[in-house]
Amino acid sequence: MSSVFPVNDYGPLMPGLVMAGVAILHVFLAQFAVGGGFLLCYFQWLAMTGRNEYARRFVEGFFKILLMISFVMGALTGVGIWFTSIQISAATIGEMVFNFHWIWATEWTFFCLEIVAGYCFYRYHQRLSDRTSLTLLVLYTFAAWMSLFWINGILSWQLTPGDWVQSRELIDGFFNPSFWPSLFFRTVVCLTLASLVGCVVVNLIPDLDRDAQRSLINRAAHLMLPMLLMPALGAWFLWAMPADSRSWVLGGSPAMMMFFMISVGASVAIGGYALLGLWLQRLYINGATATLLLLLAFGATAGGEFVREGSRKPYSIRYVVYSSGIIPEEVGRLREIGSVTNDPYPVTNEPDCPNPTVLLGAKVFRRQCAVCHTMEGTNGVAHLTQTWDLSQMRLNIAKLQQTKPYMPPFSGTPQELDALVHYIRWVLDDRPSPFDYQRDDAVLAQIQIWLDEAGTEASSLALAGEEWSP
Ligand code: HEC
Repeated sequence: MSSVFPVNDYGPLMPGLVMAGVAILHVFLAQFAVGGGFLLCYFQWLAMTGRNEYARRFVEGFFKILLMISFVMGALTGVGIWFTSIQISAATIGEMVFNFHWIWATEWTFFCLEIVAGYCFYRYHQRLSDRTSLTLLVLYTFAAWMSLFWINGILSWQLTPGDWVQSRELIDGFFNPSFWPSLFFRTVVCLTLASLVGCVVVNLIPDLDRDAQRSLINRAAHLMLPMLLMPALGAWFLWAMPADSRSWVLGGSPAMMMFFMISVGASVAIGGYALLGLWLQRLYINGATATLLLLLAFGATAGGEFVREGSRKPYSIRYVVYSSGIIPEEVGRLREIGSVTNDPYPVTNEPDCPNPTVLLGAKVFRRQCAVCHTMEGTNGVAHLTQTWDLSQMRLNIAKLQQTKPYMPPFSGTPQELDALVHYIRWVLDDRPSPFDYQRDDAVLAQIQIWLDEAGTEASSLALAGEEWSP
């Protein structure tokens, strides 16, 4: 039996959204840091071979920005991810650390190499030969990309654990079905981001004339060429996704589809501009436009990461842990002993609970619903159930996985469910005190019947086979 860890309360922000926000910021910065390495190697080479006389100044300017972003912001948000995720789903992070201990250690080692190589370049490149400087940059880039390689295996495993589910072999989990499409797709994104930041940086280099700027921008734009592969890589990724997750993205869940479309739309806009403006017409692009394109790229990354995180529902690790932190095999037992029986943490976000039942309901909400819902803020359960009477609430929550296939099955006793319903009712009635609760055994018996009818498994959709029939 896993331990209970409380989900942190972020007021009107639902915890899943907070997690997504921190993760998106970090992924954006980290991917730029990887792509930045490639861009620097390219420009160092241009400088060494005399192909562009301004390339050296670009390397200087760009590297300072890369340093700030990858070393300072990247590291800060990286720690932020750990800090946030243990507040939101300790069970998920626990599984990730438990199953991939050595992969994390390997990833961290490459991150160290990245920092050391980057620092040496920063500190000594003026005294070093061109060749040695390039070696340091190649080392930096290799290490940065390798840290992406390792972490990509763990992140893609969350969505598509593949054969690992049966074999529990590290290698199956790591090289899971979405490993390669995800790695290649992310690499293309890294290059694109670096290229766009490059265009911004060119505009910031002092006393560079228009022609010099144009020549640098056209070189930086070369790193956007791999974007041509994006449609194929995206389709490969979608194809590797479980059928249900794919169906959320392609229309099953309006929010998911919207974010997917934002991501695709922003990518098409960037790619179109790059194709028409930068390659075909060899245009100059000013700082404002470059910044705008970079913002679009942030939108595309945000949309994409949101979809990747969101489409795992009802799991945070497919078949292994539900988003709520509850293990699928535990559901049956939790329905007998209760989901919060072993929850020692006081409910601090509802200080004025009028009776023990409402208090129990608030605890059940925290354990089973709070990751994806708030009470009255984002995805607020109070709003979603506004028009339902008590009996409808009981039925729809007892059959939670049928109410919406991206929710896990309810995992507590009938008493807990009734307490949850009363907690929702109390909030809907503006938290009155006193607030009456009468235990009714006939009601509890009915809830038990509904729970039995719903079963303890996830929705059949969320258990569906991995094959795709478009
Ligand atoms: C894995 C995330 C997740 C968990 C856990 C979860 N939900 Fe949901 N729930 C959702 C999403 C996403 C929606 C869709 C919201 C929408 O349609 O706007 C939803 C919708 C609902 C709705 C509206 C259903 C309808 O038909 O309109 C209710 C009520 C609800 N959830 C209650 C709960 C309760 C109570 C719990 C805890 C026992 C819970 N949810 C746990 C993600 C979750």
